[in-house]
Amino acid sequence: MFSHLFSLPLAESKIYSLMNTAKLFLCVFALIFAASCGIFRKDKGTVTTTTKPENGVYEPGQEELKAVKSQFKDATMAELKEGYALYAQGACTKCHTPKNIYKREVSEWPGIIDRMAEKAKITADEKDAVHKYVMAIKASQPKE
Ligand code: HEC
Repeated sequence: MFSHLFSLPLAESKIYSLMNTAKLFLCVFALIFAASCGIFRKDKGTVTTTTKPENGVYEPGQEELKAVKSQFKDATMAELKEGYALYAQGACTKCHTPKNIYKREVSEWPGIIDRMAEKAKITADEKDAVHKYVMAIKASQPKE
């Protein structure tokens, strides 16, 4: 099949082999480039490391629900979402922007929420939701 190659003049066959070497290099560089772009990464699309905001104010998910269950067995996702809505966009934002949840200790929170619920004039259920939301965030706070 390639027998005609052998009959090429020497100079011409050298050019062919040079071209092949150049192609090989190109392929290798293309591969390295693709790899450095993460094209071959298996976990692409399944984000495993979600960065949490520094103030701990974010929408709760399964991780937060699971974490708070050890303290409140009956906590539901709906409650956590309600607490988040009040805390981040609702009654708790009327006078100030959402306060840093991480910065305050678990033991400080009941007192703060009692005090603020009165200011915000929220119902007992709403206060309960805010409390559970904050505890869920605290329970899943990244360790330093
Ligand atoms: C009527 C206005 C008002 C509303 C509504 C309000 N706050 Fe506050 N909040 C304040 C003021 C004023 C301060 C600062 C003085 C203080 O700590 O009492 C404060 C402080 C705080 C602090 C810091 C307290 C500390 O000791 O570190 C947190 C946390 C907080 N609020 C959370 C909330 C939450 C949660 C809600 C909703 C349930 C809420 N706030 C609703 C006025 C309000």
